[in-house]
Amino acid sequence: MNKVRLEDILAKKKRAEKITMLTAYDYPLARVIDQSGIDIILVGDSLANVVLGLSSTRDVNMDIMIHHAKAVRRGVQRAFLVGDMPCGSYEKSPEDAIQNAKRFIDEAGCDGVKLEWCENCVDVAAAIVKTGIPVMGHVGLTPQTAVEFKVQGKDAYSARRIMQESQQFEATGCFSLVLECIPDRLAEEITKGLKIPTIGIGAGLFCDGQVLVTHDLLGFSSQIHPKFVKQYVDLNSTVLQAIQQFQKEVLHGQFPDAKHSYHMSEEELRKS
Ligand code: KIV
Repeated sequence: MNKVRLEDILAKKKRAEKITMLTAYDYPLARVIDQSGIDIILVGDSLANVVLGLSSTRDVNMDIMIHHAKAVRRGVQRAFLVGDMPCGSYEKSPEDAIQNAKRFIDEAGCDGVKLEWCENCVDVAAAIVKTGIPVMGHVGLTPQTAVEFKVQGKDAYSARRIMQESQQFEATGCFSLVLECIPDRLAEEITKGLKIPTIGIGAGLFCDGQVLVTHDLLGFSSQIHPKFVKQYVDLNSTVLQAIQQFQKEVLHGQFPDAKHSYHMSEEELRKS
């Protein structure tokens, strides 16, 4: 399979072909996702919630993100790899943001970075784009600054605001845009109005692509899931069953059996 390039992602929108994106935080899952042919892998700051057991995405910093992005990179040969800029890594100044974006590229081998809408993110995104680093914007529900975790843009005023933010991100040169937790018709209007692809999460069917947090779709997270999460398998139960079976077999002297043990001949044993 050929490596997914920026142009391939943009071309998909022109061909009205859906873009697929999933999150990864470590080597084994990154390998499987890459093998599946998913277009974009995001080392999301959702790492904080689903892997590190922290309550907020605000609790991860650049060093933690780089550590995980490096592990993911080792497992990815094909997909376009995006590093999620954590809270505090891009809001201070464009110079600071560029330095941190470069770390994702130079240290972790990412192909691009993502950043959430915030006060001076237009200047920041434009500055990063200018250095040649592909930037993905993120509007709607933006967990790093959210006060309440609820659907955004349900009234005309806030819908117009999200529409404007999307246009501003596009004008900075962003190559794509995550739309999180907004009504499907608003996502449709934004998608129709932009040249760059939109990737929805809780934003309905009309986006150019879809993303989910991988641990949510695998049923391998302890979080309460919002309505938009579809769980495709119940890994929590599968893993629990396997672990309980191991425990039972150890307690009953059934593991390790002969098949899982090393042996020596009686003769060698007598000599030793
Ligand atoms: O961190 C993350 O997982 C994300 C996705 C929800 C897009 O930002």
